[in-house]
Amino acid sequence: MKVTVVGAGAVGASCAEYIAIKNFASEVVLLDIKEGYAEGKAMDLMQTASLNSFDTKIVGSTNDYAKTAGSDVVVITSGIPRKPGMTREELIGINAGIVKEVSSNLIEHSPEAIIIVVSNPMDTMTYLVHKTTGLPKNRIIGMGGALDSARFKYRLAEALEAPISDIDGMVIGGHSDTGMVPLTRLATRNSVPVTEFISEERLDQVKEDTKVGGATLTKLLGTSAWYAPGAAVSALVQAIACDQKKVFPCSAMLEGEYGLSDICIGVPVVLGASGIEKIVEIELSDAEKEAISNSAEGVSKTNGLLSL
Ligand code: 2OP
Repeated sequence: MKVTVVGAGAVGASCAEYIAIKNFASEVVLLDIKEGYAEGKAMDLMQTASLNSFDTKIVGSTNDYAKTAGSDVVVITSGIPRKPGMTREELIGINAGIVKEVSSNLIEHSPEAIIIVVSNPMDTMTYLVHKTTGLPKNRIIGMGGALDSARFKYRLAEALEAPISDIDGMVIGGHSDTGMVPLTRLATRNSVPVTEFISEERLDQVKEDTKVGGATLTKLLGTSAWYAPGAAVSALVQAIACDQKKVFPCSAMLEGEYGLSDICIGVPVVLGASGIEKIVEIELSDAEKEAISNSAEGVSKTNGLLSL
């Protein structure tokens, strides 16, 4: 299993590290445009191999896509991260051009690869990769919901004062501060609805804290988060690499599902060796349907800023 991660910044390097430590990939190529940067990070990571007990070979490349040839999965993290006070959508002007060029370069050398898009605004960048590459829709996956769901579970565990391993919950919709839809109605503590443990008011606070989870960290860190995004990507790569058939909320191209078409937005999907193996249509409440519809309006508006 060969994986390429484009962008050796904090998210890309964290993603490469988590993939290596999970030891399911034979090779991870870390590529960046900054001279020597990816090579340095790859070498530093390789020097943890004996300490973290992995055999994965991590190789760095300064913009040489030949080294990415034959990748099974490619991850696009390149582009600028947001600064405190910015929305993810404000990054489109710079990131769209980068993502377009990177996705074309990747597919030229790995025509059979599955693409995972991380760069923001992620749903719109995922849509751009579809329009740029024309790949089958099952092979283009946007990573946002897996991260947002991890933040949702963190906030739920905090509110319930419960071990996070007892918590289950999913966030669908757009990966944006206003467009996320945490499915509070379906969240559970070891199969028990979380509403058995906390009030509706407290659950609403969990929902709001989840939606601004990224912005909260950007304010604290001065830049976008990287540990949880990197870990979320590595979970998707592992599901594909190991054909796990796990369900994750991912940004997928919809063709009528959830009443939406020609848009990439977070919905539950089954992830396996062929990428998105099934889009799962769950029965939503009226309030959830309205929230998804509003979220899609926001994503479509951002898509409209693309020059396709
Ligand atoms: C986040 O929410 C970077 O969009 C990513 O942290």
